[in-house]
Amino acid sequence: MQGLRLGILASGSGSNLQSILEASQNKVLASQVVCVISNKKEAYALERAKNYGVSAYSLEAKEKDYDKKILELFREHGVNFVVLAGYLKIIDQTLLKAYPKAIINIHPSLLPKFGGKGYYGKKVHEAVLLAKETVSGASVHYVDEGIDTGEIILQEKVPVYQTDTPEVLAKRVLEIEHQILVKAIAKIEREAVL
Ligand code: GRF
Repeated sequence: MQGLRLGILASGSGSNLQSILEASQNKVLASQVVCVISNKKEAYALERAKNYGVSAYSLEAKEKDYDKKILELFREHGVNFVVLAGYLKIIDQTLLKAYPKAIINIHPSLLPKFGGKGYYGKKVHEAVLLAKETVSGASVHYVDEGIDTGEIILQEKVPVYQTDTPEVLAKRVLEIEHQILVKAIAKIEREAVL
């Protein structure tokens, strides 16, 4: 199976990116990461890309034509599928139009709960604990013009304990994120062949 040519957008440590790089190297995925772009020049995700010999770029989000520059770089690398792996900016029409139903995002909650504007990173887990939820989890979804509103591809649950802090819950959810992100890409690979 040929696999996809993945373009990754990341803003942070890149542990989700790492799970894709490893799955690709171990042939769990036929897809290849061919380009990583961050809006944060200090994002460790860029280091992780370089460790795997993958082209890595940082762009200033306030730069003129920022989204167009992302698209140009993705096109240069023959990207045919985009993964938001801990990316903290909203995707604009430029990319959505260029990659219809070919952009996915990983979110650290059981969407649609605790998703949307203002729900990212630790804030998600704080809200889950405040709501006294007994279950949380992670979701992989297609990106549409909304925030965390696209069609859900995969979700997986984790228990929430009363003694949990946001950091402890975040760590438990992050482990699931890594698993379902790879599983979702594998599912999309299979569907792409059929
Ligand atoms: C994670 O908390 C994840 O929930 C969200 O972005 C954060 C950063 O993850 N999607 P990563 O280590 O940069 O992949």
